[in-house]
Amino acid sequence: MKNYHQLFTFAAKARGNAHVPYSHFAVGAAIEDENGNFHAGCNVENVSFPCGTCAETGAIAAMTAAGGKKIRRILIVAGGDRLISPCGACRQRILEFSLPETEVLLADTEGVKKVLSVGELLPGAFKEFSHD
Ligand code: THU
Repeated sequence: MKNYHQLFTFAAKARGNAHVPYSHFAVGAAIEDENGNFHAGCNVENVSFPCGTCAETGAIAAMTAAGGKKIRRILIVAGGDRLISPCGACRQRILEFSLPETEVLLADTEGVKKVLSVGELLPGAFKEFSHD
C-alpha cells in the first residue's frame, strides 16, 4: 500500500471535529485536488436528520470554495469494525469532480485499507443528460 500519510492525517484531524450527536459515528474526508492542495470535511449531523451532511460532501464543498476543480484522490476515514463505505449520494458527488485516474482511499483509524477507482465506486453511473 502506498504511503498516504499526509492525506490520512488531514482526514483524521477533520474526523476529530465531526458533529455526530445522533449517530456517534464520526467520519473524516480529505481531498487532494488537481493542484495538490488539500481540503477536508467531516460529517455534520442535525436534529432534523435529513439535514445532516456526510464528510465527503463537506470536503467537496471546501475544495470548491477554495477553487479546486477536480479530485486527484479522496481519503475517507472512520472507526468501527467494518471499513467505511461511502453512501450512494456521495458516490455520485465524487464522480462529478473525478478524473479518469482519481483514487478513492478507504481508511480505518490505522490507515488506508482499500483503494478504488471511481468506476469501481459507482458502476453504471449517470453522467450526462440530453434534451429532446
Ligand atoms: N457518513 C459519512 O459522513 N460518510 C460516509 O461515507 C458514510 C456515512 C455519515 C453520515 C452520518 O452522519 C453518519 O455517518 C452515520 O451514517
